[in-house]
Amino acid sequence: MKVIVGTEKQISELIAEEFIKQVNDKENSVLGLATGTSPLGVYANLVEANKEGRVSFKKVVTFNLDEYIGLEGTHNQSYRYFMNDNLFDHIDIDKKNTHVLKGVGDYLAYGAQYDAEIASFGGIDLQILGIGSDGHIAFNEPGTSFDSLTHVAELAESTIVDNSRLFNDISEVPTKAMTMGLKSIMNAKKIVLIAIGNNKAKAIAALINGPKTEKVPASILQDHPDVTIYCDEAAYSLVK
Ligand code: F6R
Repeated sequence: MKVIVGTEKQISELIAEEFIKQVNDKENSVLGLATGTSPLGVYANLVEANKEGRVSFKKVVTFNLDEYIGLEGTHNQSYRYFMNDNLFDHIDIDKKNTHVLKGVGDYLAYGAQYDAEIASFGGIDLQILGIGSDGHIAFNEPGTSFDSLTHVAELAESTIVDNSRLFNDISEVPTKAMTMGLKSIMNAKKIVLIAIGNNKAKAIAALINGPKTEKVPASILQDHPDVTIYCDEAAYSLVK
Protein backbone atom coordinates (compact mmCIF):
# COMPACT_ATOMS: atom_id res chain seq x y z
CA MET A 1 0.00 0.00 0.00
CA LYS A 2 1.43 3.38 -1.04
CA VAL A 3 0.54 6.55 0.86
CA ILE A 4 0.82 10.07 -0.57
CA VAL A 5 0.20 13.16 1.58
CA GLY A 6 -0.43 16.58 0.05
CA THR A 7 -2.89 19.44 -0.12
CA GLU A 8 -6.37 18.75 -1.45
CA LYS A 9 -5.39 20.53 -4.68
CA GLN A 10 -2.19 18.48 -5.08
CA ILE A 11 -3.75 15.08 -4.43
CA SER A 12 -6.76 15.88 -6.65
CA GLU A 13 -4.37 16.72 -9.50
CA LEU A 14 -2.25 13.62 -8.92
CA ILE A 15 -5.28 11.32 -8.98
CA ALA A 16 -6.67 13.03 -12.08
CA GLU A 17 -3.30 12.42 -13.78
CA GLU A 18 -3.58 8.70 -12.88
CA PHE A 19 -6.97 8.61 -14.62
CA ILE A 20 -5.69 10.54 -17.64
CA LYS A 21 -2.73 8.18 -18.00
CA GLN A 22 -5.00 5.15 -17.63
CA VAL A 23 -7.35 6.35 -20.38
CA ASN A 24 -4.54 7.52 -22.68
CA ASP A 25 -2.85 4.10 -22.33
CA LYS A 26 -6.14 2.23 -22.94
CA GLU A 27 -8.92 4.22 -24.62
CA ASN A 28 -11.63 1.71 -23.65
CA SER A 29 -10.63 1.65 -19.99
CA VAL A 30 -13.19 0.59 -17.39
CA LEU A 31 -13.25 3.18 -14.60
CA GLY A 32 -14.75 2.69 -11.15
CA LEU A 33 -16.17 5.97 -9.82
CA ALA A 34 -17.30 7.33 -6.46
CA THR A 35 -19.57 10.18 -5.42
CA GLY A 36 -19.29 12.37 -2.32
CA THR A 37 -17.29 15.50 -1.64
CA SER A 38 -13.82 13.94 -1.76
CA PRO A 39 -13.51 13.25 -5.52
CA LEU A 40 -14.96 16.61 -6.65
CA GLY A 41 -11.51 18.14 -7.28
CA VAL A 42 -10.47 15.07 -9.28
CA TYR A 43 -13.57 15.33 -11.47
CA ALA A 44 -13.04 19.08 -12.01
CA ASN A 45 -9.50 18.33 -13.19
CA LEU A 46 -10.77 15.62 -15.56
CA VAL A 47 -13.34 18.03 -17.05
CA GLU A 48 -10.60 20.58 -17.64
CA ALA A 49 -8.21 18.03 -19.18
CA ASN A 50 -10.99 16.84 -21.49
CA LYS A 51 -11.76 20.42 -22.59
CA GLU A 52 -8.05 20.99 -23.25
CA GLY A 53 -7.95 17.85 -25.41
CA ARG A 54 -5.50 16.05 -23.11
CA VAL A 55 -7.82 13.06 -22.73
CA SER A 56 -10.93 11.65 -24.41
CA PHE A 57 -13.57 9.52 -22.70
CA LYS A 58 -15.38 8.51 -25.91
CA LYS A 59 -14.58 4.82 -25.51
CA VAL A 60 -14.47 4.72 -21.72
CA VAL A 61 -16.90 2.61 -19.68
CA THR A 62 -17.70 3.55 -16.06
CA PHE A 63 -19.27 1.81 -13.08
CA ASN A 64 -20.27 3.72 -9.94
CA LEU A 65 -20.02 2.25 -6.48
CA ASP A 66 -23.46 2.89 -5.07
CA GLU A 67 -26.89 4.53 -5.13
CA TYR A 68 -29.47 5.44 -2.50
CA ILE A 69 -32.54 3.21 -2.48
CA GLY A 70 -35.70 5.26 -3.01
CA LEU A 71 -34.23 8.10 -5.06
CA GLU A 72 -34.92 8.44 -8.79
CA GLY A 73 -31.90 9.26 -10.94
CA THR A 74 -33.40 12.71 -11.45
CA HIS A 75 -33.42 13.50 -7.68
CA ASN A 76 -30.71 16.06 -6.98
CA GLN A 77 -29.19 13.90 -4.18
CA SER A 78 -29.15 10.69 -6.24
CA TYR A 79 -25.73 9.48 -7.28
CA ARG A 80 -26.78 9.31 -10.97
CA TYR A 81 -27.63 13.02 -10.77
CA PHE A 82 -24.32 13.75 -8.99
CA MET A 83 -22.29 11.98 -11.67
CA ASN A 84 -24.08 13.71 -14.55
CA ASP A 85 -23.80 17.07 -12.82
CA ASN A 86 -20.16 16.84 -11.76
CA LEU A 87 -18.61 14.82 -14.57
CA PHE A 88 -20.58 13.10 -17.34
CA ASP A 89 -22.42 16.21 -18.61
CA HIS A 90 -19.09 18.02 -19.04
CA ILE A 91 -16.92 15.42 -20.82
CA ASP A 92 -17.16 13.58 -24.15
CA ILE A 93 -18.31 10.30 -22.60
CA ASP A 94 -21.20 8.31 -24.14
CA LYS A 95 -23.81 8.18 -21.34
CA LYS A 96 -24.77 4.68 -22.51
CA ASN A 97 -21.35 3.57 -21.25
CA THR A 98 -21.95 4.94 -17.74
CA HIS A 99 -23.37 2.54 -15.17
CA VAL A 100 -24.83 3.65 -11.86
CA LEU A 101 -26.74 1.26 -9.61
CA LYS A 102 -30.48 1.94 -9.57
CA GLY A 103 -32.38 3.08 -6.48
CA VAL A 104 -35.92 2.50 -7.76
CA GLY A 105 -37.82 0.09 -10.04
CA ASP A 106 -35.92 -3.11 -10.81
CA TYR A 107 -33.00 -2.03 -8.60
CA LEU A 108 -32.61 -5.46 -6.97
CA ALA A 109 -32.43 -7.31 -10.30
CA TYR A 110 -30.05 -4.69 -11.70
CA GLY A 111 -27.81 -4.99 -8.63
CA ALA A 112 -27.83 -8.77 -8.83
CA GLN A 113 -26.17 -8.71 -12.24
CA TYR A 114 -23.83 -5.73 -11.60
CA ASP A 115 -20.69 -7.75 -10.80
CA ALA A 116 -21.22 -9.94 -13.87
CA GLU A 117 -21.75 -6.81 -15.97
CA ILE A 118 -18.44 -5.38 -14.72
CA ALA A 119 -16.71 -8.69 -15.47
CA SER A 120 -18.20 -8.73 -18.99
CA PHE A 121 -16.18 -5.56 -19.73
CA GLY A 122 -13.01 -7.20 -18.40
CA GLY A 123 -13.19 -5.77 -14.86
CA ILE A 124 -12.39 -2.32 -13.47
CA ASP A 125 -8.98 -1.00 -14.51
CA LEU A 126 -8.85 1.93 -12.09
CA GLN A 127 -11.16 2.50 -9.11
CA ILE A 128 -11.42 5.70 -7.06
CA LEU A 129 -12.74 5.44 -3.49
CA GLY A 130 -13.60 7.88 -0.74
CA ILE A 131 -13.79 6.69 2.87
CA GLY A 132 -16.44 7.24 5.54
CA SER A 133 -15.56 8.53 9.00
CA ASP A 134 -16.47 5.02 10.26
CA GLY A 135 -14.12 3.35 7.76
CA HIS A 136 -16.76 2.45 5.17
CA ILE A 137 -15.94 2.23 1.48
CA ALA A 138 -18.83 2.50 -0.94
CA PHE A 139 -21.74 1.79 1.45
CA ASN A 140 -20.03 -1.19 3.07
CA GLU A 141 -20.48 -0.29 6.71
CA PRO A 142 -18.57 -1.87 9.65
CA GLY A 143 -19.49 -5.55 9.91
CA THR A 144 -19.95 -6.11 6.16
CA SER A 145 -18.46 -9.39 4.97
CA PHE A 146 -15.14 -9.16 3.15
CA ASP A 147 -16.71 -11.64 0.67
CA SER A 148 -19.62 -9.34 -0.24
CA LEU A 149 -20.62 -8.62 -3.82
CA THR A 150 -23.18 -5.97 -4.87
CA HIS A 151 -25.99 -5.93 -2.30
CA VAL A 152 -28.51 -3.88 -0.31
CA ALA A 153 -26.86 -2.03 2.59
CA GLU A 154 -28.31 -0.34 5.67
CA LEU A 155 -26.56 2.97 6.29
CA ALA A 156 -24.90 3.35 9.70
CA GLU A 157 -26.27 6.14 11.93
CA SER A 158 -22.94 8.03 11.61
CA THR A 159 -23.18 7.88 7.80
CA ILE A 160 -26.74 9.22 7.86
CA VAL A 161 -25.54 12.10 10.07
CA ASP A 162 -22.47 12.75 7.83
CA ASN A 163 -24.59 12.74 4.65
CA SER A 164 -27.42 14.83 6.10
CA ARG A 165 -25.36 17.95 5.31
CA LEU A 166 -26.48 17.55 1.70
CA PHE A 167 -30.21 17.20 2.44
CA ASN A 168 -32.73 19.76 3.74
CA ASP A 169 -33.36 17.61 6.81
CA ILE A 170 -31.83 14.45 8.29
CA SER A 171 -35.21 12.71 7.94
CA GLU A 172 -34.82 12.94 4.14
CA VAL A 173 -31.57 10.92 4.07
CA PRO A 174 -32.32 7.43 2.72
CA THR A 175 -31.49 4.66 5.18
CA LYS A 176 -30.65 2.04 2.56
CA ALA A 177 -28.50 1.88 -0.54
CA MET A 178 -27.42 -0.48 -3.28
CA THR A 179 -23.67 -0.88 -3.10
CA MET A 180 -20.85 -2.78 -4.68
CA GLY A 181 -19.46 -5.17 -2.09
CA LEU A 182 -15.97 -5.37 -0.64
CA LYS A 183 -15.07 -8.28 -2.90
CA SER A 184 -16.43 -6.37 -5.91
CA ILE A 185 -14.09 -3.48 -5.04
CA MET A 186 -11.10 -5.77 -4.44
CA ASN A 187 -11.56 -7.14 -7.99
CA ALA A 188 -10.43 -3.76 -9.41
CA LYS A 189 -6.94 -3.95 -10.90
CA LYS A 190 -5.80 -0.65 -9.39
CA ILE A 191 -7.33 1.41 -6.58
CA VAL A 192 -6.82 5.00 -5.41
CA LEU A 193 -8.47 6.26 -2.22
CA ILE A 194 -8.84 9.94 -1.38
CA ALA A 195 -9.36 11.29 2.15
CA ILE A 196 -9.59 14.95 3.12
CA GLY A 197 -10.08 16.52 6.54
CA ASN A 198 -9.96 15.72 10.27
CA ASN A 199 -13.19 13.78 10.10
CA LYS A 200 -11.31 11.03 8.20
CA ALA A 201 -8.22 10.84 10.47
CA LYS A 202 -9.41 7.93 12.64
CA ALA A 203 -10.52 5.88 9.64
CA ILE A 204 -7.24 6.49 7.78
CA ALA A 205 -5.16 5.50 10.83
CA ALA A 206 -7.23 2.32 11.20
CA LEU A 207 -6.83 1.56 7.50
CA ILE A 208 -3.05 2.08 7.48
CA ASN A 209 -1.97 1.00 11.00
CA GLY A 210 -4.77 -1.19 12.22
CA PRO A 211 -5.49 -4.87 11.87
CA LYS A 212 -7.43 -6.15 8.89
CA THR A 213 -10.91 -6.50 10.34
CA GLU A 214 -14.51 -6.35 9.13
CA LYS A 215 -15.00 -3.69 11.83
CA VAL A 216 -13.04 -1.36 9.50
CA PRO A 217 -14.24 -2.22 6.00
CA ALA A 218 -11.47 -0.19 4.29
CA SER A 219 -8.83 -2.34 6.02
CA ILE A 220 -9.48 -5.01 3.38
CA LEU A 221 -7.41 -2.79 1.07
CA GLN A 222 -4.29 -3.90 2.97
CA ASP A 223 -4.53 -7.10 0.88
CA HIS A 224 -4.85 -5.38 -2.50
CA PRO A 225 -1.68 -5.53 -4.66
CA ASP A 226 -2.03 -2.03 -6.16
CA VAL A 227 -3.58 0.58 -3.89
CA THR A 228 -2.52 4.17 -3.19
CA ILE A 229 -4.00 6.22 -0.35
CA TYR A 230 -4.00 9.96 -1.04
CA CYS A 231 -4.58 12.13 2.07
CA ASP A 232 -4.29 15.70 3.15
CA GLU A 233 -2.34 16.44 6.37
CA ALA A 234 -5.50 16.49 8.50
CA ALA A 235 -6.68 13.07 7.32
CA TYR A 236 -3.13 11.69 7.81
CA SER A 237 -2.66 13.23 11.27
CA LEU A 238 -3.32 10.11 13.39
CA VAL A 239 -1.20 7.70 11.33
CA LYS A 240 1.74 6.31 13.37
C1 F6R B 1 -19.68 7.42 -2.44
C2 F6R B 1 -19.21 6.41 -1.49
C3 F6R B 1 -18.92 6.72 -0.06
C4 F6R B 1 -18.08 8.00 0.11
C5 F6R B 1 -17.78 8.25 1.58
C6 F6R B 1 -17.05 9.57 1.78
O1 F6R B 1 -19.91 6.84 -3.70
O2 F6R B 1 -19.08 5.30 -1.88
O3 F6R B 1 -18.23 5.66 0.52
O4 F6R B 1 -16.89 7.87 -0.60
O5 F6R B 1 -18.98 8.28 2.30
O6 F6R B 1 -17.87 10.63 1.39
P1 F6R B 1 -17.31 12.11 1.27
O7 F6R B 1 -16.31 12.12 0.15
O8 F6R B 1 -18.51 12.95 0.92
O9 F6R B 1 -16.70 12.45 2.58
